Amino acid sequence: MLLKFGSRPVLVASSAEMAKQFLKIHDANFASRPLLAERLDSFEYIRVEERQTFISQLNSLAGKPFFLKDHLSRFSLCSMTRMVLSNKYFGEAILKETLRLHPLGTMLAPHCAIEDCNVVGYDVEKGTTVLVNVWTIGRDPKYWDRAEEFLPERFLEKDIDMDGHNFSFFPFGSGRRRCPGYSLGLKVIRATLANMLHGFIWILPQGMYTESISVEEHYGLTTYPKFHVHVILEPRLSSHLYSPK
Ligand code: HEM
Repeated sequence: MLLKFGSRPVLVASSAEMAKQFLKIHDANFASRPLLAERLDSFEYIRVEERQTFISQLNSLAGKPFFLKDHLSRFSLCSMTRMVLSNKYFGEAILKETLRLHPLGTMLAPHCAIEDCNVVGYDVEKGTTVLVNVWTIGRDPKYWDRAEEFLPERFLEKDIDMDGHNFSFFPFGSGRRRCPGYSLGLKVIRATLANMLHGFIWILPQGMYTESISVEEHYGLTTYPKFHVHVILEPRLSSHLYSPK
């Protein structure tokens, strides 16, 4: 679909076939961005400090209502916990299914044509912005059975990776501009989730059921939940394991 944002031409790719055209076949030509992003670095000692602070903060708040999102901003990284190790494969399938239905970016960050080129018979002029609709592709029944349902098992049955080689599932993008934080991002999610599940029993308040949790999202450059989910935390380990070093 060709749009005009003011005088700028913008193409939207909403199928796996067109995503492949822009991110693989013509990747070199669409490897520019309208805006530049800076490369980020990571330091292990910071991640370890963050994890200890995060868990300790949750422990001090156990039994009281609080906004988890305020504390999630302090991320953590540490070795895999017992629970996730024993459920490694299912944990991974849950992570993938979550990113399929709720990719962090509805559209990939905009790509920009470096030169004029021809994509499946259409002339695309230099400077055209391309938006790849990863959200729509992740829910397209052409590629996914029962596309709107949360079924992590689908990733156990089929070996589908999210490294950008499968054009029906690429939450980190693909090609030259694929997310450079791919590996770190996955480690942070796995370790944070692992620590949260290992450290606490998560209970819904009385009268609330999993079916009543809304998974509606706000759409923007990144997606985030529209409504808060209230949960009660019960520590499951000895108290000394929650104190910051
Ligand atoms: C779950 C976590 C993350 C997800 C789902 C994610 C997703 C994405 C996506 C979809 C893009 C656009 C790719 C494209 O246009 O083809 C992107 C770009 C980028 N990401 Fe991530 N990201 C994550 C974590 C991170 C982390 C941890 C870092 C840094 C430490 C990072 C740094 C970047 C940068 C710098 C770009 C721009 C790359 C470029 O323009 O060449 N991301 N990310």
